[in-house]
Amino acid sequence: MTGPLNTFAPGQGRRPPRAAFRSDAPRLVLDGDWRFRLSASHAEAPAGIEQPDLDDSGWDELPVPAHWQLYGHGAPIYTNIAYPFPVNPPYVPDDNSTGDYRRTFELPEEWIGLGAALRFDGVDSCFTIWLNGEELGWSTGSRLPTEFDVTGIVKPGRNVLAVRVHQWSPGSYLEGQDMWWLSGIFRSVTLLSRPPRALDDFFVHADFDHTSGHGTLRVDTSIPALLTVEELGLRDVPAQGPYDIEAVEPWTAELPRLYAGELRTGGETIPLRIGFRTVLVEDGVFKVNGRPVLLRGVNRHEFHPDHGRVLDERTMREDIVLMKRHNINAVRTSHYPPDSRFLELCDELGLWVMLECDLETHGFSLMGDWRGNPSDDPRWRDAYLDRIRRTVERDKNHPSIVMWSLGNEAGDGRNLQAMAEWVKQRDPDRPLHYEQDWGGRYTDVYSRMYTSHEELDAIGRRAEEPLSDPVADARRRGMPSVVVEYAHAMGNGPGGLVEYQELFEKYDRCMGGFVWEWIDHGLREDGHFAYGGDFGEELHDGNFVCDGMVFPDRTPSPSLGEYKKVVEPVRITMAADVMEITNLYDFRDLSHLTLAWSLEQDGEESDSGTLPLPAVPPGGPPARLPYPTADTTGVLTISAVLTKDEPWAPAGHEITWAQRAPERAPVRRTTRTSRPDPGLFDPITGRLTRLGNLPVTGPRLDLWRAPTDNDRLGHDPVANTWRHVGLDRLQHRLLGIDTEDDTVVVRTRVAPAATDLGLYATYRWQATDEGLRLTAEIEPDGDWQDIPIPRLGLRMSLSAWINDVTWYGLGPAEAYPDSRLAARLGRHSSSIDALHTPYVFPQENGNRADVRWAELTGRYGGLRVTGEPTFQLTARRWTSEDLDAARHTHELRPGGAVHLNIDLAQHGLGSAACGPRVLPQYRLTARSAVFAVTLSEIPGR
Ligand code: GAL
Repeated sequence: MTGPLNTFAPGQGRRPPRAAFRSDAPRLVLDGDWRFRLSASHAEAPAGIEQPDLDDSGWDELPVPAHWQLYGHGAPIYTNIAYPFPVNPPYVPDDNSTGDYRRTFELPEEWIGLGAALRFDGVDSCFTIWLNGEELGWSTGSRLPTEFDVTGIVKPGRNVLAVRVHQWSPGSYLEGQDMWWLSGIFRSVTLLSRPPRALDDFFVHADFDHTSGHGTLRVDTSIPALLTVEELGLRDVPAQGPYDIEAVEPWTAELPRLYAGELRTGGETIPLRIGFRTVLVEDGVFKVNGRPVLLRGVNRHEFHPDHGRVLDERTMREDIVLMKRHNINAVRTSHYPPDSRFLELCDELGLWVMLECDLETHGFSLMGDWRGNPSDDPRWRDAYLDRIRRTVERDKNHPSIVMWSLGNEAGDGRNLQAMAEWVKQRDPDRPLHYEQDWGGRYTDVYSRMYTSHEELDAIGRRAEEPLSDPVADARRRGMPSVVVEYAHAMGNGPGGLVEYQELFEKYDRCMGGFVWEWIDHGLREDGHFAYGGDFGEELHDGNFVCDGMVFPDRTPSPSLGEYKKVVEPVRITMAADVMEITNLYDFRDLSHLTLAWSLEQDGEESDSGTLPLPAVPPGGPPARLPYPTADTTGVLTISAVLTKDEPWAPAGHEITWAQRAPERAPVRRTTRTSRPDPGLFDPITGRLTRLGNLPVTGPRLDLWRAPTDNDRLGHDPVANTWRHVGLDRLQHRLLGIDTEDDTVVVRTRVAPAATDLGLYATYRWQATDEGLRLTAEIEPDGDWQDIPIPRLGLRMSLSAWINDVTWYGLGPAEAYPDSRLAARLGRHSSSIDALHTPYVFPQENGNRADVRWAELTGRYGGLRVTGEPTFQLTARRWTSEDLDAARHTHELRPGGAVHLNIDLAQHGLGSAACGPRVLPQYRLTARSAVFAVTLSEIPGR
């Protein structure tokens, strides 16, 4: 045999690809501890590892499934686009870590006389396999299954299995996905008995006719088989049918109805779970069961902070449950087929799945115009076809899969076209996706990534830039639009989700999209999460690998809460005298929901109740309901909650909510001159140093925030401009302290070195009944034009014994101008520490918006800040400069103070790390401003 290196071929000696299923035929799971040894290069790997009598007692042990780099052998590497080896296909470097694996197993008696196959669900990146000294073959395709026929080689009693895995193989050129390079046998290994009359493969076709409510069922089988679906009255009928079934309940992601059945041959019985549904593109619209579907999706990589791409079933379920609880209805399996068990759970719990093949050659884009791209090189054709066949054959029986995707960022070329042609003949019932088919030649949907709102609007109107070929243009313009990646959720962000959703909801052509991405791929290291560069890689892409809506340990980041609200399947609108309830589900009515309401006065609940919700049909006009209370003085919150348990959430789980708040009464202040002035000012700086008994530093003008990933990455990062101007190093010069009537007026000019640009900041202090009232007047000096600034406000600090904060405003989560839908008005409490959002790469976080008042307290008392009418609040145990300097969360150490920002405004978040800049309405620039707050001391207990 040739072996997996130095060839364009995808493998040798393998069984043909087929559906993944679990029958009643005996099987032996070979997971567990294997013998393992690592060689630094393929040339150094020893000969003879297949010898059954080899003494491997001196080898290490490594669990299967696992990545060896996460067990102290070698180290992970993170690159986004670049290949971490010279680009010279099909060759790979001599420094090619090679893992040798061995284990023995006993074959039980009952297997005697049966055929057998060895199945590997995933080996990264290639492997050669020997059983009892005999070479069975080799394979590439890390996230794809491989089977070898071992009939006649496997024997009763003791068997010895040896596997040689290389970190790099020609297949690595086809696996340049933006993720960690991690090697080894990372999915299960199973020995399957193949009894006489075993069923090797089957293909369930279960269509739903929405006009008649009929289902059609046909199961193609590799040998004749009998089909039973008791619920449908089918008992031991020939599997091929076809059977016309009256009145089936269709499968949708919203109501994932599965019919249990069984396929039987003389040799084995296979349980089935059948979902009836029909997917098609009709009149330029993506439809399931005759109705347009809106994908509220995420891109999901398989990731675990301790195990890399090795996921157990509990974690897979956790992902789906979290998604469903956050109103997510779709997953793109970026950028490879996941563990099959994940798809079974999608069938069961209900998610629309875009199933993507394990293919990406993005590194060739760096050669300039994709020079040498395998996608257009005939030598790679077999490897491309091999990958798509193994993908589609394995997963074709999942009703949740509503679209195939050829891969990601592999440029364009004939091999992709060949893959598409193969899919079309093998499974004509599912539309096909591939984002880089820019000419729309072989796919069914017009796919884009990181499209700006403006461009998406044009696409929605079918008014995008034309293709030069009018025929191709007409074809593509007739396709539905999917935004396969958008709203890059790196660090703090994305901003601008609502504006995308408005476009998705507005245009028939838009079938929605998939946020990039579900999870941060931070690897857990000594209590923090590591990213690219932390393992000494010579090439890496830093923390670009941490761009998800959940943190590496699956704690939701604030963006997930925001997304949940933005993609709400029910919308509650508070109109003048009625509440309007709009059903935004595609299939479900609202009879599974109850409305729960509560009325609060200044954060204290004064009344509450529940209301039944009429069964508003999907797509129907909104239901109009009277308000549950006549009281308009308090804040009314209406929540739509689950009436009964669903498989993914308990009764009472909130789907969405809305609030009605009364108009704010004007703030009245009384100036008081009789009591002694509670403030003490530093005569040199003019800064407040004491408020009654409370030591304070500041406040003073602040324009800086620790740049977010979206501020500092992407094309022309805004943080470069900020730093260029010097907003991170403002100097404050006192111009004078005067007393005007009862007001202390402190005038300053604030400016960075090396520029004549500056701002006048005037602080007017007045003693009032409520405390010290500060009016800050900001006036730009010089030609600031459109220079953006991160924030406009005041910073001050308090003693470190301040521990808690209670505020009346938006919360409990952080909120920024273009990401604040999920925050609700009320009285919220938190410790200072819990206000911090632990983005893997430290950056601005924790802003609380629309705060009317806040109390920051500790054992000796505290500070109350009252807005006129509101301000934005940040409180943390380190400064913006500390945050800016830190590279990992564990580098942030509480200092001797609590630092507050009391802001008038902040710049939006956007998603410019990979995508459009902050929308114009959320950009902040230097401008004249006046704002006021009152500071008062809270006496100690
Ligand atoms: C896309 C790519 C993703 C990821 C993303 C940036 O171009 O498809 O895999 O790299 O950019 O995070």
